[in-house]
Amino acid sequence: MLIEWLRHLTTPCSPRLKRMGYLKELIAIQSRHQRCRDAWAPHLEHCKRIILEATTGIPHRRAVVLGSGLLLDIPLGPLCDMFGEVVLVDILHLPAVIKRARLLANVRLVDADCSGLADATWDHVCDGRTGPLPVPVFDDSFCQDSDLIVSANLLTQLPLAPLGWVQGMGEVYSKDETRTFARAIIDHHLEFLKHQTGRVCLLSETERQILQGGEVLEVIDPLFGAALPMSGLKWNWNIAPRPEITPHIDLRFRMTGIADLKTAGGLNRKT
Ligand SMILES: C[S@@+](CC[C@H](N)C(=O)[O-])C[C@H]1O[C@@H](n2cnc3c(N)ncnc32)[C@H](O)[C@@H]1O
Repeated sequence: MLIEWLRHLTTPCSPRLKRMGYLKELIAIQSRHQRCRDAWAPHLEHCKRIILEATTGIPHRRAVVLGSGLLLDIPLGPLCDMFGEVVLVDILHLPAVIKRARLLANVRLVDADCSGLADATWDHVCDGRTGPLPVPVFDDSFCQDSDLIVSANLLTQLPLAPLGWVQGMGEVYSKDETRTFARAIIDHHLEFLKHQTGRVCLLSETERQILQGGEVLEVIDPLFGAALPMSGLKWNWNIAPRPEITPHIDLRFRMTGIADLKTAGGLNRKT
């Protein structure tokens, strides 16, 4: 905890992204990965394998990875060997990632908010506005003419910080209103992926399960009612095996990995 706090204090980051929790979340992922390395290994391997599968049968000029984060689930070496350029996109890049990218001649880091909502939500809350919540917009110019776009475990992360920031206002918005806000962010990203001309590879959690002694106690829908195509590989990510959260509780994500989203069938809607 102390180390995480120190990292949070010393890592360069814009004050608003810090206040909204983006940095805290990245540092938490880094620390949890260190503690749960073995439990995470099969999940990370699945992700890397699906990304490599997505590279087959397409030109290899440019690959874009959205939500590149700590590069844990990205086969960065093979992508760099294969593609002329690899663009890593995240709302913020930690110093270790910047250092790693500098060693690779054909890697470009892009700081971008893939929901386009961080600033708008910050302003909305700080100005104490009570009208309609901001809508997602994303300047995707750097994705144009890309042969491969990977959404790397980003989809369900997109609503978290804006939602948390809005909920911090107290009772201003109802549960239904904040749920609609979160769902709009998810739908916007799926629409964006659908409209790309290059191949799109989607890695995402589809369900969060809280377990006690192997029994599922609670299921949480991180997609806020949206549904992904049924095809693709499914697996469990034991993201926080006990005693990570408590001595008795395990947190597990149901995952899906789709190497080619456009041929995977429609984006079904649950609700
Ligand atoms: C679960 S992590 C993805 C794991 C990552 N691919 C890895 O291998 O470490 C989610 C990532 O999404 C990023 N993220 C969250 N909201 C974002 C946004 N609005 N725009 C861009 N990236 C965002 C986070 O900073 C984080 O790196």
